[in-house]
Amino acid sequence: MKRAVIALVIAGCNAGSATPAPAPQPPPAAKSDQTPTIVQVAGLDGPRLYVALCAPCHGADGKGYAADHAPSLVNPTFLESASDDFLRRSIASGRPGTSMAAYGKAHGGPLDSAGLDRLVSYLRGKGPAFRMLPAGGAGDPAAGAAIYAQRCASCHGDSTTRGEAVSLANPAFLAMATDVFLRHAIVHGRPGTKMEAFGATLSGTEIDGVVSYVRTLGAGAPAVQLLPEPTGKEPLVQNPRGGTPRFHLRADPCPALPGGSAATAGCKPDPRYVSVDQVAAALAARQRLVIVDARSPSDWRRVRIAGAVSIPYHDLKRLDELPGDGTWVVAYCACPHHLSGIVIDELRRRGYAHSAVLDEGINEWHRRGYPVIAAEGVAKPPAEPKPPGTIH
Ligand code: HEC
Ligand code: HEC
Repeated sequence: MKRAVIALVIAGCNAGSATPAPAPQPPPAAKSDQTPTIVQVAGLDGPRLYVALCAPCHGADGKGYAADHAPSLVNPTFLESASDDFLRRSIASGRPGTSMAAYGKAHGGPLDSAGLDRLVSYLRGKGPAFRMLPAGGAGDPAAGAAIYAQRCASCHGDSTTRGEAVSLANPAFLAMATDVFLRHAIVHGRPGTKMEAFGATLSGTEIDGVVSYVRTLGAGAPAVQLLPEPTGKEPLVQNPRGGTPRFHLRADPCPALPGGSAATAGCKPDPRYVSVDQVAAALAARQRLVIVDARSPSDWRRVRIAGAVSIPYHDLKRLDELPGDGTWVVAYCACPHHLSGIVIDELRRRGYAHSAVLDEGINEWHRRGYPVIAAEGVAKPPAEPKPPGTIH
């Protein structure tokens, strides 16, 4: 099942380029007697934790790019320059504002300290040990800025724009990345990815300049105070007395046969995506629906769609409480759809035909100014590059 989810995700965020498919007829939503998908993270060893929580984005092998441009976690130049502290803090506090959620309990995530340690040693075992690497000199940030604009910004973005590669302006990233870590990545690149080894084309002085410029990128970002954690008692149904929305769902096109345009035999398009505009209109018209935030609870505490309940992809317990009366359930995550896809797969398995993935995700919802509940200091997400390609 995981594999199917991942395959869908590669299609990326589709901001309405395909024709909407007709809405499916609602068969009575049946309650399933099957055990819900709950991950008891507390008891899992490192490899299982990784599969349940991380593989949907970073891939089964850790090489990244299963979804959301999640980078490789096993690249040798990454592991030899990332200390255990860097790995631990990256997982615990995440990269707020990107799809990398905070997984540490102290930040609203599911993992206690022992769980974090198990994941760090699991990743550690997949590549070279951390080692002391050469430091650079003090660089000139102004010279670095010019090089950055020319050679780096198209992939990495800057403090106001988002690229498809790791956000170097992210304050949480800058708080844990040392100059030596930055320099090592720039000089040697990340072999096998789009990140080239700039040691071949930039001088040591130029690289020092770029490092010192990258350091300035996160400055001025406001600190974010998280909203209270979910109690599990938040009402599921919005506008309980409202009418039923008439959603038109989009399907992923069937993959074309190699060399031809005909769709793969036996593939039936699966209408499962509803656009942000339709859902915002339903909310504005006070129609009855459930909106599920499928991300880690730490993300729900940062910014969420107004009225959304937290039912994270790794703990679907609250799905048992959904009304079985045909009420629409819309699940979302950041772009694209892998985490919300896990929730919708589970709902469809249980017979909820009136269930859909929010097509463009919460970032586009937020960007368009639709209602959110946001912690203080959370700004609208920067524009995403279009079209979102995959990096390999
Ligand atoms: C929803 C997708 C998603 C999930 C699930 C996810 N990550 Fe990430 N992760 C990302 C993205 C995207 C980034 C890069 C952030 C950015 O774009 O700046 C990232 C970055 C990281 C980094 C920093 C890597 C670097 O090169 O700086 C680490 C370490 C990491 N993730 C580990 C994990 C672990 C361990 C888990 C499971 C507990 C996990 N991630 C779950 C998407 C995800
Ligand atoms: C063609 C796109 C592209 C360009 C141009 C590019 N990068 Fe990268 N960069 C990437 C990708 C993709 C990764 C992550 C690779 C991976 O999965 O390990 C990355 C990783 C990095 C990292 C490591 C981040 C981390 O947390 O692991 C740093 C630092 C970095 N790049 C800096 C730069 C700088 C500085 C420049 C310009 C001199 C630059 N990059 C140009 C695509 C690019």
